[in-house]
Amino acid sequence: MTGPVVEIVPLTEQHFPWARQLWEEAWGSDRVVSRGKVYHLADLPGLVALVAGEPSGLLVYCVEGDACEITSLNSTREGLGLGSRLLEAAAERARQAGCRRLWLVTTNDNMHALRFYQRRGFRLSALYPGAVDRARQIKPEIPLTGLDGIPIHDEIELALDL
Ligand SMILES: CC(C)(COP(=O)(O)OP(=O)(O)OC[C@H]1O[C@@H](n2cnc3c(N)ncnc32)[C@H](O)[C@@H]1OP(=O)(O)O)[C@@H](O)C(=O)NCCC(=O)NCCS
Repeated sequence: MTGPVVEIVPLTEQHFPWARQLWEEAWGSDRVVSRGKVYHLADLPGLVALVAGEPSGLLVYCVEGDACEITSLNSTREGLGLGSRLLEAAAERARQAGCRRLWLVTTNDNMHALRFYQRRGFRLSALYPGAVDRARQIKPEIPLTGLDGIPIHDEIELALDL
């Protein structure tokens, strides 16, 4: 049996209404805070996963020097391989841009993300205790409690050597 046709395309203006709603639902707004830095997701390059033409996954990244940070990754149709495809496409883009490291931060409640990235080769590279508590002062919409009822306090960094 073959699955649905999945295509990875660059994020463009036409995806913005859908993308903004996705960010709003997932992150409370279109800005994220990582390592104390505020990113406006709409200002960054991104990749969209289309399933039979429908936007269903979105990865946003930021290249700085020889490192590429994944600033946001979401799939609205989990388990179809969209997250993996977006990750592979981002790694490829980063390599082409001369990057040697692909990295991201996630929050201490996100066990699924820790599983997802580690199964795809990422290593735990740093722990920043209290980083989310500090981020909440910049972005009050960050909830106090996250997945599985876990209080959100810390950032966990994961990285993949390219
Ligand atoms: C993390 C995320 C992007 C993965 O996207 P995806 O499209 O499901 O990715 P894939 O289909 O490639 O792989 C998902 C893996 O999770 C598993 N999975 C999918 N849905 C699941 C569910 N509801 N419960 C448990 N496992 C699930 C899949 O079987 C697969 O497992 P594998 O590692 O054994 O292959 C997606 O779950 C998501 O949007 N999460 C919310 C936002 C988030 O946490 N982003 C990352 C933090 S920065």
